[in-house]
Amino acid sequence: MFKSYRKLVSTVAVVALASVSAMAASDASRTYANGKKVIDGGMTYPVKNGKTSSYHVNTQKAYKDVKFGRTATADEIRAWDIDVMPDGTGLPEGEGSVEEGDELYEAKCASCHFDFGAGGAGYPALQQGNAYEMQQTLKLQRLKPDDDGPKRNFGSYWPYASTLFWYIQTGMPHPAPMSLTNNETYALVAYILSINEIKIDGEELDDEYVLNRDNFLKIVMPNKDGFIPKIDGKDGLENTRKFYDNPKNFGGNKTRCMKNCFDGEPKVARIQGVGISDYNPPLSSKKEKPAKKEGGSGNEAKEIYDASCAVCHATDAMGAPAVGDKKAWAATLKKGIDKVYHNAIHGINGMPPKGGTALEDAKVKAVVDYMVSQSK
Ligand code: HEC
Ligand code: HEC
Repeated sequence: MFKSYRKLVSTVAVVALASVSAMAASDASRTYANGKKVIDGGMTYPVKNGKTSSYHVNTQKAYKDVKFGRTATADEIRAWDIDVMPDGTGLPEGEGSVEEGDELYEAKCASCHFDFGAGGAGYPALQQGNAYEMQQTLKLQRLKPDDDGPKRNFGSYWPYASTLFWYIQTGMPHPAPMSLTNNETYALVAYILSINEIKIDGEELDDEYVLNRDNFLKIVMPNKDGFIPKIDGKDGLENTRKFYDNPKNFGGNKTRCMKNCFDGEPKVARIQGVGISDYNPPLSSKKEKPAKKEGGSGNEAKEIYDASCAVCHATDAMGAPAVGDKKAWAATLKKGIDKVYHNAIHGINGMPPKGGTALEDAKVKAVVDYMVSQSK
């Protein structure tokens, strides 16, 4: 019993370590106490003989009702409580150019979100067509929900850019959340704004444009007022009443229907674009560090794997069979290697064709062989 409790606590610790140490990289101002580096509020990792020794377990009591785990420490909460509000609260100092963002995007995001944020294979698009035109479709949301509904993308739908900042900083890249610095996040936001043709203070975001805290606060998203009725502010309640009192806002025949409303199947307001429900396979909540592999350098298949496949295959977080996971690969190979080659080349579910590369079939097969060889 005691043993398994210890195990649980150390699992918590490992997860906290992974995220908080990544955090430390992005914010040098994290706390230090007694001259020692504090990795989180409760656990310090003293160095003995040049190596990090085991941590001191937090002494806080487990919650009495749940009987396991412990209260998150103030520093753990602080490390994750970094949302950015529309008014700029929580927005750190920093800067990054569109060009830097472009390079980072290619390296860290395009494998899933595709070139220019086009999305596909279940991964959400980060831009979809002209933001201004897309914004017009929002007005049709209730009147023509079926054919001309809004595209639910950042540029065309999100009312504030602040959400993009903290979403990227806390959640992306998907396999390594909290690994980006503030400057990198500014650069990526600048790039995503630019591919969405969003202007700041009337200025287009060309490659040299540098986004920082000051000009970030001037961003006005096209759909800032798209969410009606306006529910905040002192007139919020009144606005809401007026909106729902107007039958025009109910689409279709413009009258409120209270019974026997549907002839046949009910029509549901469907929001077009890539929806989260399209994501398949479902995300796993497991987070593991990528398995470390012995380097067989000079090996082309390994190099391709590292550059183009490891982003998804290093862990099973994306639903991909993780390289090194014998069980997962044994199960995959049950369908026969030819089928597996075929799926790698043509794609299956969250696996994009050729992993999103333009490799020849033979090369893809060689990489698959490499992945299999590393997973026996
Ligand atoms: C391994 C795949 C992967 C990589 C790499 C990745 N993402 Fe994502 N991203 C996802 C998935 C999956 C979602 C949807 C998550 C969800 O809905 O819970 C997502 C969602 C997003 C969203 C929200 C989109 C929306 O409209 O809801 C943004 C913004 C985003 N990612 C930005 C980035 C940026 C910037 C990078 C690079 C630093 C990146 N992503 C790298 C898989 C990835
Ligand atoms: C964007 C993420 C992503 C990238 C990049 C990626 N994969 Fe995959 N891969 C997946 C996912 C997810 C699956 C699991 C698909 C399923 O079975 O639902 C998968 C499955 C596979 C499989 C097993 C297919 C089967 O028959 O079950 C092979 C082989 C494979 N990938 C090879 C590759 C190779 C080779 C590359 C690089 C050239 C690569 N992958 C890059 C996400 C990715």
